[in-house]
Amino acid sequence: MIIAHLSDLHLDEGRRAEDRVAAVMAWLGGLARPIDAVVVTGDIADHGAASEYARAAELLKHPAPVLVCPGNHDVRAEFRTGLLGLPASDDPIDLAQEVGGVLFAMCDSTIPGRGAGFLADETLDWLDGVLSGGEGPAVVAFHHPPVEVGVPLVDGIRQSGEERLAAVLGRHPRVKALLAGHVHTGASTTFAGIPLRIAPGVVSQSLLPVEPGSERGWDEGGPLDYERPPALLLHVIHDDGRVTSHHRTVSC
Ligand SMILES: [Fe+2]
Repeated sequence: MIIAHLSDLHLDEGRRAEDRVAAVMAWLGGLARPIDAVVVTGDIADHGAASEYARAAELLKHPAPVLVCPGNHDVRAEFRTGLLGLPASDDPIDLAQEVGGVLFAMCDSTIPGRGAGFLADETLDWLDGVLSGGEGPAVVAFHHPPVEVGVPLVDGIRQSGEERLAAVLGRHPRVKALLAGHVHTGASTTFAGIPLRIAPGVVSQSLLPVEPGSERGWDEGGPLDYERPPALLLHVIHDDGRVTSHHRTVSC
């Protein structure tokens, strides 16, 4: 099976972000054969406004299941009502869905009102429970990577408390890949011995410390590149559960 992995849309009701999301979704819609799912790892809205989620719900319409988790720019209550059609609640948004024999566990790594991430005890308990419910391959997704990735901008606000996540994952060898966003750069690493794939930003790309411009302060636009095209990952999940990830940019 093949799934698309998008992250960091930062929809703000402006044309720029909307055009980028629309271009990515149109590209997915034009593929030679249907993909099996679309995973969006957070920062779907830029300010967490209801109007932003209304646009997101329109733009993210796709024939295959669209699986989402919130990022630090998202707001739980508006995310639930505007994007998921669920009653408003400030509880963590943890969702599991099986697609084509693969379990996708979408975890809420946000701390309301903060940029950094943390999986609440109730989210980890939920994850342990859903992973205990079967034996087929599983993919676990969240917004904040639980390790440093060499991008200072986000390494300072990564997911902490990661030893608790590692303990849960250690009980479930069915987990074949971890998916995250937050970094605004396509990156591949490991956590707890499991492949961790980080999707590039749809809205912008982070500059690595070795790239010119990475020293820019926030009053100068920050260490982000808004000129590069929107990008995404396509993950091929092989029959043995191994995951191969392909990086694509989309004209916009
Ligand atoms: Fe973001």
